[in-house]
Amino acid sequence: MCGIIGYVGNRKAQDVILKGLSRLEYRGYDSAGAAILNHDGVDLIKRQGKLKILADALAKKPIEGKTGIGHTRWATHGIPNDRNAHPHTDCTGKIAVVHNGIIENYLELKNSLLKDGHKFSSQTDTEVIPHLIEKFYKGDLEKAVVKAIKLLKGSYAIAVVHKDSPDRVVGARLDSPLVVGIGKGENFIASDVPAILDYTNSVLYLDNNEVVTITRSGVKVSDISGGQINKKPVKIKWDISAAEKSGYPHFMLKEIFEQADVLRKVLEERTERGKVSFEELKITDAELKKFKRIAIVACGTAYHAGLTGKYMLEEYAKIPVWVDTSSEFRYRDPIVGPGTLVIIVSQSGETADSLAALREAKKRGAKVLGICNVLGSSIAREADGVIYTHAGPEIAVASTKAYTAQLGILYLLTLYLARLHKTITPARYKGLLKEFERVPRLMDDLLGEYRSEYNTIAAYAQEFKRYYFARQNKSYFLYLARNINFPNALEGALKLKEISYISAEGYPAGEMKHGPIALIDENPWVVCIATQSKTYDKMLSNIQEIKARGGIIIAIATEGDKEILHHKVNYMLEIPKVAELFSPLLVVIPLQLLAYYVAKEFGYDIDQPRNLAKSVTVE
Ligand code: G6P
Repeated sequence: MCGIIGYVGNRKAQDVILKGLSRLEYRGYDSAGAAILNHDGVDLIKRQGKLKILADALAKKPIEGKTGIGHTRWATHGIPNDRNAHPHTDCTGKIAVVHNGIIENYLELKNSLLKDGHKFSSQTDTEVIPHLIEKFYKGDLEKAVVKAIKLLKGSYAIAVVHKDSPDRVVGARLDSPLVVGIGKGENFIASDVPAILDYTNSVLYLDNNEVVTITRSGVKVSDISGGQINKKPVKIKWDISAAEKSGYPHFMLKEIFEQADVLRKVLEERTERGKVSFEELKITDAELKKFKRIAIVACGTAYHAGLTGKYMLEEYAKIPVWVDTSSEFRYRDPIVGPGTLVIIVSQSGETADSLAALREAKKRGAKVLGICNVLGSSIAREADGVIYTHAGPEIAVASTKAYTAQLGILYLLTLYLARLHKTITPARYKGLLKEFERVPRLMDDLLGEYRSEYNTIAAYAQEFKRYYFARQNKSYFLYLARNINFPNALEGALKLKEISYISAEGYPAGEMKHGPIALIDENPWVVCIATQSKTYDKMLSNIQEIKARGGIIIAIATEGDKEILHHKVNYMLEIPKVAELFSPLLVVIPLQLLAYYVAKEFGYDIDQPRNLAKSVTVE
């Protein structure tokens, strides 16, 4: 987590840093700071709280200078306060460092630095870095940085400035992302592309154990043993408007409304003349045919996409699939080897647990396929093959369009493998692809119903808030579903708790009788996904059981369903008719919107919920 930026050029560094940090705030937002080089030396400013507080302070008292570094923090070591905010400095105040990652051996390093007489002023792990650089600095900043990072254990992306090395920023990375932006008469480093896209679309992706020095006139990349590396810049195709709200009150709402187009793009890019194709896969059909099973490994929302993948892959491609959260997979003794295809699903491609799971799987001889959104991310680069979701930048912490895109890719992969294994007939393959191609249009129709601010879901959210207060804050949400929509029950609950801080649990409806039914009284609002499916009747029975015990029901049903009305559900949300296989793509829309409107009713910060970060690059 945390976002870092470094700049050298002719603009006011303060402006570039603030703008860049505003695009990195999704990575952490409990404090922010900057260090700018000018005639006074290193001018430092740090503020606890959202970036706006730092921006207001800088508006009141601007800092001159055209070289600088900045940071937006998600606290790991040390509470969020001004003191623990980055940048951190050495004893002389000449060196300033921003850091994303965790220095695992910081205590040991700190103790030895303390013995040498260094003075520390924060509780962070990061502070050892400027002191180590101070220790090694003999007039060459890059050399001192290299010596310092050789002692670090853990993960880092850093940017460093030194008063005596004006007009340069040195960066380095190990297991935390760092991109270099190449401009004209100016250069940048940052945790992620949106931070620099206002100025350049030409970037280099730094690899582990690489060090970069940017000056006004150039970029030099070398490895930690000093060998120079020639890297080819990559042109980023999307423009900065993709990372802006475009009139929507929140990124989350914008991203929800982008989903039909995202899915359209997934289909357009991967299908040609009625066939699915994955040109960039780098895993051959012959190899794919040999896998005896698939393991899907991911975190958070991506994990829920993976769970849905299990249903589709097993039913249509007839391959056994197990799904694991990355944090569990990496510390078990997972039974994977050359016969297993491990699919790592990750929006950011940087999630520390997923990256570690990838490495574990490779170590055990498995082939790894990454399904990633961020181009050039660590998972995309380390996997044997990658399928990009191309959903564009997802800024809101609560993931929406990345989920739809991940599902889209998993559907296409299912069809691809089913065709390869001949587990469905050509006619069935064609029929399913045709049905899938209808979904973006159906999604447009569904989203169209919610374009107005005053829509059904917004009204239900208002109703919930009234009910919640009337019942002395005892209300909460349960989400129940069966079969391929069960992962959506988990996803609906995750969305709600992430942004509205209201307790929410997702459960397979058939399991209700084994526990959750004990919770049912007048307090919970139970979202029942009861669309037309082979388990529809079972869901109706579950609805009866909840009603009999006083629970409030929001049913998600297929449009035109009259039967469900006989079951006296309290509220109903309809989705267009679609084959059960593809229904998760439509069902998730009202779930996302429900979470959004509940959070909005309660007045929470929707795009930046407390304690969370979008890209979790720490364990
Ligand atoms: C964080 C985010 C979630 C995301 C998860 C996995 O928890 O807040 O929205 O689903 O990480 O992230 P990834 O980038 O690996 O998909």
